[in-house]
Amino acid sequence: MEVIVAKSAGFCFGVDRAVKSVYDNIDEKPLYTYGPIIHNLQVVEELEDKGVKVVNDIEELLNLPKGKVIIRSHGIEEKIYNYIRDNGFSIIDATCPYVKKIHRIVNDYSKKGDTIIIIGDPNHPEVIGIKGWSSSKAIIIESIEDAKKLQLPTDEHICIVAQTTLNYLKFQEIIEIFLDKGYHVDIKDTICRATRDRQEEAIQLSGRVDKMLVIGGKHSSNTRKLYQLCKNQCDNTYHIETIEDLELLVFSKNEIIGITAGASTPKNIIQEVITHVRSTE
Ligand code: F3S
Repeated sequence: MEVIVAKSAGFCFGVDRAVKSVYDNIDEKPLYTYGPIIHNLQVVEELEDKGVKVVNDIEELLNLPKGKVIIRSHGIEEKIYNYIRDNGFSIIDATCPYVKKIHRIVNDYSKKGDTIIIIGDPNHPEVIGIKGWSSSKAIIIESIEDAKKLQLPTDEHICIVAQTTLNYLKFQEIIEIFLDKGYHVDIKDTICRATRDRQEEAIQLSGRVDKMLVIGGKHSSNTRKLYQLCKNQCDNTYHIETIEDLELLVFSKNEIIGITAGASTPKNIIQEVITHVRSTE
């Protein structure tokens, strides 16, 4: 059996930085994270055991004793940021610098009166956060169909940004639609290079293996996208969270197994999966 692990599997720079900021402040009490610090149940539970409380919204936070609040890599809306600060909590801002850059673009262009178009998942916290830094009209577009349907006055200035984890081909297709409509557009390619590299490596790897394992939280959108891209190349692709999900899977001696993992999958979980797969030989 050959096991090939993608070089880009696991924590990206932004997630690594956010998780480190929790551990660096672990002795501060009370310590909160605004939303789970990463989409990984095992890590979140471990942090809870160490006294780190996840708060899910501003109302919940305002009823809790004052303390430090860590903003995760996805970032948050400007008004929520201000609420937290103005209500006596101190903020440790672990928003990924790449996401922060999108906040700045949206803020600057909206102040000039541009319409902001965000290409991404309207329910994803990163996208909700980005929209919250616009002081002018901001529209979220999720699909090619949304882009085709959207009608804006042709004299309107538009600034287009993308969710960091967006598929690059989809971004290009949507941009083409806007250009064909003859709008005045400023296009900001805000897709994170780490995501693109991870996706490209996963596509290549899944195209040459017998089974492909994609490790990551069931709610992690970048893991789900990775799974989909791999599934398109390799029918035998499996999205797993931990080795427990591998119980029913049989690996045979002459198979080539590919492994990749989403941006919020810790090294130790990846290593456990590698060890488990190798031990079944
Ligand atoms: Fe940041 Fe890119 Fe990760 S935007 S959080 S480094 S996927």
